[in-house]
Amino acid sequence: MHIVVFSGAGVSAESGLRTFRDSDGLWEQYDVMDVATPEAWEKDRELVLRFYNERRAQVIHAEPNAAHSAIRELEDHFDVSVITQNIDNLHERAGSSTVLHLHGEIMKARSSVDSSLLYDVKNGVIELDAKCEKGSQLRPHVVWFGEAVPEMESAYSIAQSADVLIVVGSSLNVYPAAGLVQFIAPRAALYIIDPKSVPVARDNAIHIKEKASTGIPMLASDLIKKYSTAGR
Ligand code: OAD
Repeated sequence: MHIVVFSGAGVSAESGLRTFRDSDGLWEQYDVMDVATPEAWEKDRELVLRFYNERRAQVIHAEPNAAHSAIRELEDHFDVSVITQNIDNLHERAGSSTVLHLHGEIMKARSSVDSSLLYDVKNGVIELDAKCEKGSQLRPHVVWFGEAVPEMESAYSIAQSADVLIVVGSSLNVYPAAGLVQFIAPRAALYIIDPKSVPVARDNAIHIKEKASTGIPMLASDLIKKYSTAGR
């Protein structure tokens, strides 16, 4: 059985990383246009780099929580793919083996001219004037508003083969990522784990109104009881 986990900022909230659209969310404190767009990069690179340097410092100090661990543990029983909108690396640090980042990865930098030139961010900071090997300024390896989402096609094809899709901690506000839910087969089961209501245009979605650290272990244990053949 193929389980696809589609995660958003809420899965990392209990690791101390703020979400975007909750009342204390990042987009309350910052104007997205000032820090997460190509226009912002042209206007004030120092501000954009500082914004992501701060996010990276928080990621480095954060630890995966019980939700990340329970997602990893699903791999002991099922074929599991994680598709995340998150730029943190907490799924990987919890041990998940297949993680597709739709919106990029904060721990990586890339050339602002040639997106194939990718680097690990050394010492956690991208400095103004840090250059790629061809001499162009390095930028965070993240997708900004107004930019294409190159991993979307891969995400669609993973979603199409899902027997179960678990959406956790995403307000499903940002497209094209949020549209992934429409790509699962009619026979696939859809679970939403989020303390708040999330808009999904599908009758048989099961909404578990819990925080990720409670909801994911609960659902994982149900799925294992119901479907796992390991150890039987
Ligand atoms: P949002 O901030 O839009 O939504 C977070 C969701 O997590 C909300 O539905 C919350 O109710 C829920 N939530 C909060 N705490 C939770 C918890 N402990 N357990 C489970 N759920 C919880 O974040 P995303 O949907 O991930 O994109 O945002 C999508 C994209 O918008 C991000 O990837 C980012 C942002 O702008 C870019 O920067 C391109």
